[in-house]
Amino acid sequence: MLEYLYPLRTYLIVSGVEKPNVMTADWVVPVSFEPQMLGVAIGHTRYTHSLIKDCGEFVVAVPTIELLKDVWTAGTLSGAKEDKIKKLSLSLIKSKKVRVPSIRECQANIECRVVEEVETGDHTFFVGEIVAVTHGDAFVEGKPDLNYKFVMHASFGKNFTANSSEKYKP
Ligand SMILES: Cc1cc2nc3c(=O)[nH]c(=O)nc-3n(C[C@H](O)[C@H](O)[C@H](O)COP(=O)(O)O)c2cc1C
Repeated sequence: MLEYLYPLRTYLIVSGVEKPNVMTADWVVPVSFEPQMLGVAIGHTRYTHSLIKDCGEFVVAVPTIELLKDVWTAGTLSGAKEDKIKKLSLSLIKSKKVRVPSIRECQANIECRVVEEVETGDHTFFVGEIVAVTHGDAFVEGKPDLNYKFVMHASFGKNFTANSSEKYKP
């Protein structure tokens, strides 16, 4: 029944310190203004799950539609089986406050430290406090520039869409 929540925005989750890994995630949600916190639901079987458990940090990177090929690769291969980074055309760069790297090509990198873990069936909901953010031109004074196309998962499977630049006022 979760398919009725779609379309959902799609992000890249970076985890791991010595050998970092990137996975794709739709299930990312803001959960607190003060302190700033967000949560991400990671399946127990994901390699990312063990990396976040080990290092207690992760980065939520915000891709645009130009990175769709990498978004798909990061969401279909597992870092447990191969060095996924070699298959991606993404560059890992030093983050500001966490040991986990950020992604140069993404328009924002939100650095998080895990403050809580909630078991939710076959996923763990990792709640992270946001300790730093870096961003590109797609954000001006904290607001997204809708001329950039952020990645959105239209429905389960290989079905993606993006926002338009149209704005509506209630
Ligand atoms: C568009 C898309 C969204 C996804 N969202 C999630 C998610 O929110 N949570 C999750 O656990 N897996 C999600 N996945 C699946 C993981 O990205 C996938 O299992 C990946 O291979 C795990 O990589 P890892 O084993 O290297 O951590 C998604 C996959 C795709 C393609």
